[in-house]
Amino acid sequence: MDKMKLPRLAYNWLSTLGALLAVLTFILIVIVFAVSMLSDLSSPYIGILLYMILPAFLILGLLIIPIGMYRQWRHLQKYGELPVQKWPHVDLNNKKHRNATFIFVGGTILFILVSSVGTYQAYHYSESVSFCGTTCHVLMEPEYTAYQNSPHARVACTSCHVGPGAGWYTRSKLSGAYQVYSTIFHKYPKPIPTPVRNLRPAQQTCEQCHWPAKFYGGQQKQFYHFMYDSSNTSWPINMLIKTGGGDPSFSQAEGIHWHINIGYTVEYIPRDEKRQDIPWMKITEKKTGVSTIFQDVNDPLSAEEIAKATPRTMDCIDCHNRPSHNYRSPDYAIDQQLLIGRLNGKIPEIKKIAVEAMAKEYGSKDEARTNIAGTIKEFYKTSYPDYFQSHNSTIDSAITAVQDAFFNNIFPDMKVRWSFYPVNIGHFTNKGCMRCHDGNHASEDGKIVNNNCNSCHIIMSQGSGERARFSNSAAGLEFEHPVDIADAWKETGCYECHSGVQP
Ligand code: HEC
Ligand code: HEC
Ligand code: HEC
Ligand code: HEC
Ligand code: HEC
Ligand code: HEC
Repeated sequence: MDKMKLPRLAYNWLSTLGALLAVLTFILIVIVFAVSMLSDLSSPYIGILLYMILPAFLILGLLIIPIGMYRQWRHLQKYGELPVQKWPHVDLNNKKHRNATFIFVGGTILFILVSSVGTYQAYHYSESVSFCGTTCHVLMEPEYTAYQNSPHARVACTSCHVGPGAGWYTRSKLSGAYQVYSTIFHKYPKPIPTPVRNLRPAQQTCEQCHWPAKFYGGQQKQFYHFMYDSSNTSWPINMLIKTGGGDPSFSQAEGIHWHINIGYTVEYIPRDEKRQDIPWMKITEKKTGVSTIFQDVNDPLSAEEIAKATPRTMDCIDCHNRPSHNYRSPDYAIDQQLLIGRLNGKIPEIKKIAVEAMAKEYGSKDEARTNIAGTIKEFYKTSYPDYFQSHNSTIDSAITAVQDAFFNNIFPDMKVRWSFYPVNIGHFTNKGCMRCHDGNHASEDGKIVNNNCNSCHIIMSQGSGERARFSNSAAGLEFEHPVDIADAWKETGCYECHSGVQP
């Protein structure tokens, strides 16, 4: 017994097990850390192992040591093998106790040093795109894929979803912990519902990089379309979009970014979860406090409903709700493939059949791959047998292009498709601006929320070939619908007919 260099209490199977566990995991941490440093491996699973699982075992091991000692103390007290004294009992004049204290203090300092580096690394790791985007592979695949094809591909997920500061870090980690739990136990809803409830206010995320006082002026944008006819006729529309913006204290605030103008607040009450049906809104001039209320004249809210609701203050997300996860409709995605030439526009009726094949609901990726190929082949075999014979490889590469368009935008595992996530910019496939600017929202004194086509953009050119038209005035061209639908486009929103597939 004399050889014992530590207090007698430390010699019990539980404490030994704890110490063994702690030492082994520590060694493992060092090895995994060295391997991940040297091999440049950036697998998200190494991160989880290194910064989450192994440290948890290390701490568990360390906790077990005093627990074992406490059990041993109770045991010895019970059988009267120890003098009656409180636990823990530390006597620095006792060599064994000195050793134990030395190990404890030294170990704690080492542990704090190592874990402060570890915590810092864990913090960075849990904030990294690799953690957010690829760890829960199936769950986040749609968002991650769309994100990589977006203008924000180099902005970290957390710049929008967490933002700076400790408070939101903790909040997001709490909901993140729930997400990890629901991923493991398959409890998450498919698709993930939006709007995201605990998204940080845009002032603290988007506005870190894009601030409202910045004046954007106009933005020229070309919208490419291909028709559903036999020659896939192209129909580009070139527009000047009046983005505007500005700080009223040193420039005129105007244009579309008027809504986020620092001089006004716009509030609204949606009727549905997805904020697509907006019957009520209020604008307030901050300087004077004067406000105006607009209501949907066909379907207004009752005084009771208004009293019950909490209005939402409009910010960036109310228009830019898909800045980095824009799941494109088949109509749009196929137009893109035709535009860049991956889909050969000389193939007769390819737009029509490609959109049809892409839009069908498939249960899995494999099913989609096989059926897209099958549908397109079958179509040409039956409708264009000669063409099918002579252009086999052209059709094969068209099939690949349609499959890619599908895989980048539709995710059967998560049931994610364009129709589930409305885009609030514009008004082509979704209501977007027309949730308020449809010409049916009026104030009590009869002012109507602006519905004039030219107040948001002007058309500089439209159409192609013989039907191409170019504007030679600042007022732009009147819109011309490529196929004759009489005046329907004036009375009905584009989105009523154009839902992302053939209208
Ligand atoms: C430019 C800002 C931005 C970046 C960067 C970003 N997101 Fe998002 N994310 C958003 C917005 C805005 C929404 C939708 C909010 C809404 O409609 O309520 C969203 C929604 C989501 C949703 C909900 C489901 C859905 O598809 O709408 C998930 C999950 C998500 N993001 C994960 C990620 C991941 C993972 C990354 C990094 C790979 C990432 N986000 C990067 C802004 C961003
Ligand atoms: C960390 C910085 C950062 C944050 C945060 C950020 N963005 Fe961006 N954003 C960029 C960069 C960089 C670009 C690409 C360069 C450019 O086009 O100006 C961009 C581009 C854009 C564009 C133009 C896209 C296009 O098609 O040209 C829009 C719109 C936009 N961001 C909106 C948002 C919104 C809304 C949020 C908040 C949800 C946000 N951004 C958050 C950095 C950021
Ligand atoms: C009323 C809807 C609306 C709101 C609110 C809004 N935007 Fe925009 N924003 C637009 C439209 C429309 C465009 C024009 C581009 C387009 O059509 O895609 C645009 C363009 C932009 C661009 C690209 C400018 C350029 O010329 O490259 C950025 C960046 C941007 N917005 C950021 C923001 C940020 C940040 C906020 C919040 C502070 C915000 N927007 C609020 C509708 C809005
Ligand atoms: C409240 C503002 C507003 C009004 C009013 C408005 N638009 Fe637009 N429109 C937009 C915005 C913003 C976009 C750009 C969307 C984008 O960047 O994807 C757009 C896009 C378009 C496009 C291109 C769509 C596409 O995807 O190819 C056409 C064409 C168009 N508008 C025609 C019209 C016509 C015709 C009217 C009048 C009946 C009208 N707009 C009224 C805001 C408006
Ligand atoms: C929540 C309702 C709402 C939504 C959504 C909305 N707006 Fe507005 N917008 C308003 C109200 C209210 C006004 C002020 C009344 C007016 O001037 O007609 C306004 C004013 C405007 C103005 C005139 C600003 C000025 O110079 O006086 C433009 C341009 C505009 N909106 C464009 C857009 C575009 C483009 C979108 C879609 C991307 C959009 N709005 C979405 C409510 C909305
Ligand atoms: C009453 C229904 C209806 C309305 C409203 C409508 N369209 Fe169309 N649109 C059609 C039909 C039908 C076609 C022809 C599709 C085909 O070739 O089979 C079409 C074709 C088009 C095309 C040719 C390319 C394509 O995608 O088919 C464009 C571009 C277009 N419409 C733009 C618009 C715009 C912008 C608006 C709103 C200002 C609008 N349409 C409103 C029914 C409509």
